[in-house]
Amino acid sequence: MSSLARDGEILVGRRTRVLLPPEVIVRRTRRHGSWRLVNVDGTLASIPRRLDRPMIGRDVELRQIEQAFTDVAENGRCQVLTILGAAGIGKSRIAREFSDAIRSSTTLLTSRCPSYGEGITLWPLIDIIRQATGGTSRETVLRLLHGEDRDIVAERIVSTAAGSEELSDFHETFWAFKRFLECIAVRRPLCLVIDDLHWGAPSFLDFLEYVADWSRKVPLFILCLARPDLLDDRASWGGGRVNSTCMLLEGLCEDAVHSMMAELAQGEELTVEARARVARTAEGNPLFLEQMIAMASDRRLQCDLDVPPTIQALLAVRLDGLPPEERRVIEAASVIGRRFSLEAVVELLQADLSQTRAVLGSLIRRELVAPAPDLADVGIFEFRHGLIRDSAHRSVSRVRLADLHERCARWAAQDSGREGADVDETVGYHLEQAFRHRVELEPNDPGCPPLAAEAAKRLAQAGVRARKRSDVTAAIRLLSRAAELSSADYPLRNLVVNELGVAFRDSGNWGSARECFVEALRWAEEHEDRIAVLLLRNALLLLRLHAEKGFTLDEFITKGSRLLRAFEDAGEPRHAGQAQHSVAWAYFLTGRALEAERLILRNIAVAKREDDEQLMTASNNLLVSVWTYG
Ligand SMILES: Nc1ncnc2c1ncn2[C@@H]1O[C@H](COP(=O)(O)OP(=O)(O)O)[C@@H](O)[C@H]1O
Ligand SMILES: [Mg+2]
Repeated sequence: MSSLARDGEILVGRRTRVLLPPEVIVRRTRRHGSWRLVNVDGTLASIPRRLDRPMIGRDVELRQIEQAFTDVAENGRCQVLTILGAAGIGKSRIAREFSDAIRSSTTLLTSRCPSYGEGITLWPLIDIIRQATGGTSRETVLRLLHGEDRDIVAERIVSTAAGSEELSDFHETFWAFKRFLECIAVRRPLCLVIDDLHWGAPSFLDFLEYVADWSRKVPLFILCLARPDLLDDRASWGGGRVNSTCMLLEGLCEDAVHSMMAELAQGEELTVEARARVARTAEGNPLFLEQMIAMASDRRLQCDLDVPPTIQALLAVRLDGLPPEERRVIEAASVIGRRFSLEAVVELLQADLSQTRAVLGSLIRRELVAPAPDLADVGIFEFRHGLIRDSAHRSVSRVRLADLHERCARWAAQDSGREGADVDETVGYHLEQAFRHRVELEPNDPGCPPLAAEAAKRLAQAGVRARKRSDVTAAIRLLSRAAELSSADYPLRNLVVNELGVAFRDSGNWGSARECFVEALRWAEEHEDRIAVLLLRNALLLLRLHAEKGFTLDEFITKGSRLLRAFEDAGEPRHAGQAQHSVAWAYFLTGRALEAERLILRNIAVAKREDDEQLMTASNNLLVSVWTYG
């Protein structure tokens, strides 16, 4: 450890960390399973750590889930069970109850899909790998793998977790993660719990379907939790597969509602009439019940329970009534996300650590936030529910949102705590939000354009990385946002639109790809950017070959050769590589092997000189084909 520590820093390793008393606050670093000492805090003892109240009702549903799991464990097969239900209805809760029941006989790994800007598409998977292995280094991953392909599997996983810049095939990535899960499940039944699947990226949903389809011989149970909105985007989810089912979680029955109220209102006297009103309004939604009773016991809000008819309205009233210091803290936390560190809140507010901690303690007592399970000792907290976070975020004024999101971006840019997440995406998201709020407040604010450009750059970098991982859906989403933010900024906008065009082309959307290239070309011409013009003409030419029915290879060769000469005239052989490669390829396809060979050999020389590995590989591969079949 001492060799990893920087000047003036105290690091502890995994084994030491678990021995530390909670007063010692440490924070994870990116350096090989180490934690940095942040502070020693005397006020920690004041934070309530009440265990959750017992679960009420849900016997039938719990039994159904357990049965599905038993089937998986006994018959060694893969099964995906999705629990659908409204926000606050108790999905996460029943999953926790189920997890506790099977923990001792199973490998249990849990994660959730983040709602926004929190990293790469497959983040939940990387999170799971980290839980299973204690890290995402090659050695830790290898330790759990077996079989001939273990090296390839480990390599793929490690490079995905590291957000590698290398080009890779998404299906190979899927395969590697599936193999990893299988290797774990072979030892003893594996249960994955994936919360908030309605926020899952399309490629992540694809992955789960892929596992359901291809992994049949090991006991692997995947329990997904989602709001019914999941089906808006994926109507087919859970359908058409023998090993994938959905179940709907409805409100608690009347008896359960009254038991829950009795449990919640311990010590508080509620009139019979008030109880009836609460029960009626909550419609069996436990979150609604909890918050209504909590409101009744908020001393400052000792109103007559004449609450608004929706949970959102109720939460708004509760947050509105908070003392100013609590509001400040909960607002800052809501900007960070559903889960937030004490350290980040302190940083955002430039506040005192112990005071902030004490304020958090009182928000915990009000049932608005809670220490994150397993992570409380490292100063990580979470909103008790996503709806509370959303309400808190909505209650922040625009001026403050702009400020807090920008601070959050600066913080995220230097934070090393979220291994496996794409920092550019997170930072880009917060800058984007800061920009949107500022521009709304004052369209001519001179601080806006640089903010937008910085956000665009970050999102574009994340987008390009996603494209290289072949995650085109994520790439298109990120690059489209970057394009919107860079509307008047040459050359940034041109680069972004060009990348977006490539992502559309990779996804097979020729029309949108063409629009992007045409727009970029127009800009490049306006700015007399000769190289960009040539590169874009080349991109458009290639696209015609894909998209235009009557466009022949011969035409392609004629036009391509003309472009090549233009590159040479411009003294830019370096950029001609791609054009040269596609013309060579067209020569090969039309049976002109000698011409093809001449161009490829020239490209190999370029690739050598420019140290362009990608061009080198492509050229070598094509040369082999030419020599074999030409
Ligand atoms: N059956 C239950 N008995 C007691 N409390 C419950 C029950 N179901 C949910 N809750 C509580 O209600 C709140 C909302 O439940 P949660 O599982 O987070 O909802 P969801 O995941 O469906 O949005 C949580 O605080 C949870 O502990
Ligand atoms: Mg939930």
